[in-house]
Parts: sequence; C-alpha cells; structure tokens
Amino acid sequence: MPGWLNDAVFYEIYPQSFCDSNGDGIGDFQGIISRLDYIKDLGCNALWINPCFDSPFHDAGYDVRDYKKTAQRYGTNDDLIQLFDQAHERGIHVLLDLVPGHTSEEHEWFRKSCQLEKNEYSNRYIWTDFCFRGTGNFGYPYVGGEAERPGTYLLNFFKCQPALNYGWLDADESWKCGCGSDDARATVEAMKDVMRFWMDRGCDGFRVDMAASLVKGDDDKKTGTSAVWRDVRAMFDKEYPECALVSEWSNPDLSLRAGFHMDFLLNEAQSPYSTLIRDYQNHAGRIIYSDPCFTGEDNACRPEYEDHSFFKMDAGGDICRFMDGYLKLYEGTKELGYISLISCNHDTVRPAFSLSNRELKLFYAFILTMPGVPFIYYGDEIGQRYLNLRTKEGGYFRTGSRSPMQWDRGPNLGFSDAAQDKLYLPVDPSSDAPVVSEMLEDPDSLLNTIRSVLRIRHEDADLKAGPNLEIMYMENGKLPFVYRRGNRIMAVNPSSEEQSARTGTSDTRSLLFGIGAGSLENGKITLEPQSFVIF
Ligand code: NOJ
Repeated sequence: MPGWLNDAVFYEIYPQSFCDSNGDGIGDFQGIISRLDYIKDLGCNALWINPCFDSPFHDAGYDVRDYKKTAQRYGTNDDLIQLFDQAHERGIHVLLDLVPGHTSEEHEWFRKSCQLEKNEYSNRYIWTDFCFRGTGNFGYPYVGGEAERPGTYLLNFFKCQPALNYGWLDADESWKCGCGSDDARATVEAMKDVMRFWMDRGCDGFRVDMAASLVKGDDDKKTGTSAVWRDVRAMFDKEYPECALVSEWSNPDLSLRAGFHMDFLLNEAQSPYSTLIRDYQNHAGRIIYSDPCFTGEDNACRPEYEDHSFFKMDAGGDICRFMDGYLKLYEGTKELGYISLISCNHDTVRPAFSLSNRELKLFYAFILTMPGVPFIYYGDEIGQRYLNLRTKEGGYFRTGSRSPMQWDRGPNLGFSDAAQDKLYLPVDPSSDAPVVSEMLEDPDSLLNTIRSVLRIRHEDADLKAGPNLEIMYMENGKLPFVYRRGNRIMAVNPSSEEQSARTGTSDTRSLLFGIGAGSLENGKITLEPQSFVIF
C-alpha cells in the first residue's frame, strides 16, 4: 500500500474546463500547472485528471484513440510530464484516467481488428463469427455491418466504444475466447504496457474506468475480472509500489479484494452514498437513488422528486440509511484498502444543485473527516452550480456539471481569454456565480471552511485515511450523529433545531472547530441548528 495515500486528499480535474492558458477556449496542461499552488493551498495533495489522451471526443475522451499520446488540445506529452514534475515539487501526486474496457472505434487496434485478413489484433476486441449474430444472452449491445470481416462486435458503452477482449468467464460458444486464453492475456499485457508507459514518465497511478466490466459473462463475484486486476496489482507491488489504483466499481468488497487500493462509492442504486445528498423519492413513494428525472428535449435536470437526503435541512433524512450500508463495507474491507467518498464527479449532478451553502459545508466537513481517501470535484469547493446546458461530447445531463471553473470576475470568470462563443462550454451566467477570488477573501466562505477542515485533517494523525472509526451516537431517525476517530470526536446536526444526545462517556471537551456551535459537557453533546463540530 503506497504510504502517501494515508494523508491523501484528491482533487478531480476535468481538463476541458479547469484553466485555459493559451486562449483557445479549452483548458490545458499549462493551465493546470498554473493553478497547482491554488490546489495545494486548498489542502489537496493529489490529482485525478479525466482522460487527456488522443480521442475523437465522442465521450469526452473516454473514447481513447491513442493511449500513449496526449490530446493536442491539452498539450504535448512533454507538457504532461512537466505537470507531473511541477506537481511533485509541491508534494502533489497525479493519477491519470485509465480506460481499459474499451477504446474509440478510431483506435488503430480496432481498425486492424476490423480487417478480413487475420492479424495481431483480430481478437483484441470481442467478435462473433457471423454478420447477423448477437453477442450472447447477457444483454450486451453489439454492432454489425461496419467491418470487412463477417462478424458483429460487442460494445462496452456508447456506439463509439467497442469492448476490448478480456475473454468470457465461460467460453461456451466457439467464437468466444476464455478469460485465460492467449488473446485475453494479450489484452491485459497491452494495458499493462500503457500503464508502465505513463508511470515511467512520472504518473503516480490510475483511476480506472468501469473497472468491473472487463471479463464478459462474469459471475456475481466478478471472478474473471478480479483475476485480471490481481495480476495488475502484482505488477504494481513489484515494479511501482508507490503508485496507486482507484476503481470506478462502487463495491469495495469486491474491488479491494481484486487489488485496488481505493474504490469510490458512487451515486447509484445499490450504493448508500446516494442517501447523503441525492436521496430522491418520487411522489408515488418509490425511492430512487439516482439523479433527478431527466426529461424533455433539452436534457435538463429537474427536481421532480422529493428529496430525503441526510444533509438537506429537515428533509426527513436518516444517517442510518447511509451508515448501515457504509459500516458493512468498511468493516469488511478496512484491512484491505480505502473507501473513497466524493463530493461529486463528472457524471453526477453537482451537490449545489439541491443543497444550500450551509448544507454543503456540513456535507463536505463530514466526508473530509471520515476514514478513507476523499475526492473533491473541481468547483465543488466554491459551490459551483449545475447548469442547464446542451449536451457536449456525449455528456447529456452530465454536461451541466462540466462547466468552466470560476476563478474571478474577469472575462469568462477567469477561465479563458477566448471570445465567449469560443469557449468549450459557457460559464455560469448568473451575476452571483461564486468565484474563487472573492471566496478567498471571505473567512466564512465555503472555500475557506473546506480549507480549515483540510488543515485539521492533515495536522491530526487521527483524521487521516486509516481505519479508526467508532460510532458514538446514531439512532434511527434521530439527531445528532456523533462519531469518533482516535482522540477526535465529530458531531453533525443538519436540522433547523438544536439537538443533543448522550455519548456514553463522561467527557467534557472544548471545541476545536465548528460550523455553528456545539458543546460536550459530562458526556452530553449539544449542537445548534445546522452545525458540524470537532472536539
Ligand atoms: C464512466 C465515466 O466516468 C464516464 O464519464 C464514461 O462516459 C463511461 N465510464 C464510459 O467510459
């Protein structure tokens, strides 16, 4: 386990929208370099950069055309290497985004794979043996009629993303390769080669896209896919022991056992994470743990559901709905690796869509004082809003969470010198759009609150990633929620009323940090409305 992860706090950068250094309307590596001091001062000491490789950008870069070449619009490979170096000088580690499950249909491997003549890449993707054959009874989408060879091929996501061939758990038809076959092994080795390429140049590891998706027809335990990752982890342990892997899997029980150092809890049905800030219930009473309904021609996101999120004031949320699920995962995996709680990501509606500034403060203070390795999505630290935008590069409703970072009140809110109509995406047009420069001046701002919490986290050995969580007060439907990590006690009350509870100790303590006020006297904790405290 790379030691640096214990004190790591990540910042996710969507490179298109972070900072444009050359005035072409889109963010780039030099722009990121120019903002590294800001990221460091925020208290983040690690980056995850969304895919920045050569791509036709039909899925914002998750359709990779060349894994070893950066996209021209962000800069050259040398610029990226300079970014690694500049980040390292500041004690910041950098993870790139690895997309192992599929490539762009424009990738050289896929072009060769489409050819009639057999070649090295004929089985790099998953092909059937007949031009009208479907790809099995697992419901995988497939495409026919596009290639010279007389077969259909399987897709991993959008139509532009053919699935790479890691084989099938059960190769029960003649056209299927087994997951241990030479062809499947060749794909694993090709992906390891890509990882080595970037780690040899200074990258510190990868966020892994759709990490559970590799072996097809896999079982519930993901036996086939897990074997691939254990093999990759062995390479890391041997050759790159200080490099890290975080999975987009949202099932730490499986992913950490498969060798990942960290796994995200994501905003999806089976994940308790959604109950914290996106717990929507429709009017018929059916609970849906996802983003609000996306209807209408404009793909707009509308709050058509009642919201019972824990951090929404007086919404009837219940921390047990999160903690019951979380604690099971945490207890089962705490010796293996870390659970990553996120503010949001590039696929999810921003938290400011439904939470007030005060609610955001409480939510961030919570995820930043829990065990595991937290991730902040760029702009969430200033409460950047979800915008109602037309789809861009396969973003659809996600586009609204990908608008340019808001630095100051200058042209394009400091993101770019380009003419407004040349921007990758428009900036928030509202006159009160939050900006970094103003929030830095306000001691009470969301940004400064996060900076304070992170300062405490970095200074206090008890508040790092390591597992030391104890629950001190948690009752169904009751508040506050009180938890302890080593010598620190944290408590949160998102409601509009004062809340108190007995903690089972006889402690009296002074307040180390508070969003709002609270006291701990003779074991009784009292919190004013909408507050979060550290004793
Ligand atoms: C998950 C990524 O986060 C998302 O943005 C992308 O569209 C899909 N995987 C496909 O790669």
